[in-house]
Amino acid sequence: MKTNVCLLAVSAILATAGLAQKREQEDPCKVKSRVVADATYCDRYWECVNGQPELYDCPNGLVYAGKHRGVTEGCDYPWRSNYCEGKQLANPPISTEHCDWLYGIFGHETSCTRYWTCWNGTATEQLCIGGLLYNENTHSCDWPDNVDGCQKHPLCNEDANGNVPLGKSCNRYWQCQGGYPRLQRCPAMLVFDRRSLRCVVPPTEDCEVPTTQPPLPDELEQEGEQNIPNPPPRNNRPQQQSNEPINLPPGAVPLPLRNRPRN
Ligand SMILES: *[C@@H]1O[C@H](CO)[C@@H](O)[C@H](O)[C@H]1NC(C)=O
Repeated sequence: MKTNVCLLAVSAILATAGLAQKREQEDPCKVKSRVVADATYCDRYWECVNGQPELYDCPNGLVYAGKHRGVTEGCDYPWRSNYCEGKQLANPPISTEHCDWLYGIFGHETSCTRYWTCWNGTATEQLCIGGLLYNENTHSCDWPDNVDGCQKHPLCNEDANGNVPLGKSCNRYWQCQGGYPRLQRCPAMLVFDRRSLRCVVPPTEDCEVPTTQPPLPDELEQEGEQNIPNPPPRNNRPQQQSNEPINLPPGAVPLPLRNRPRN
């Protein structure tokens, strides 16, 4: 009796799986855009050519995202969305030097601060700057705390608990804490001395007495931070909620959206 119940359950699962596999393929010639995703494989799509549906593969390493979407030919990096949820890949990877697939973003073989972008099998070396490291999961530069196996930043190799100058900045520096770099700012009216690696009273060899003007917030940008593909939000700095009223007085509690009177 027990076996029969089991068999019933198994056949029910198989029947469901069978149904799932026989998912209807949309006809691209019956839609306005003339192009539709393949029902089974996420790296394939159908296009209506001369009144006939034709099957296409995305460039190797990319998956179908939608007409005029993705990075090329309507195809995108698979990790950017849930494109492949419930679908399979039709094509295996084609690898070249540094590239697991012809298109994609891949980790560096020997460095935590470098990574490769691959376009049609040609690899270009990229650099994470501003104390960030390459995160294999997000395929972008990230704070060291979020990067497994790479927490200790090369910046802090010489002294895991020492200070390191930040470019030519007179005001900011890296403070290494057990190998993790933390961006620091000297107290007002002090400057970072690259000899003693401390904040000191100016002037120093490289830094004048600071003006009373606050330093420009884009000081870091000038170090080249615009090269970061997806600058991650700092965990310790709350993100501005876009649907929150921004000019409330301090301490005011915004009304929940659905209780707000409609204008
Ligand atoms: C990709 O590279 C191959 C040869 O390496 C070339 O034949 C092909 O045209 C290239 N494709 C694109 C889309 O650039």
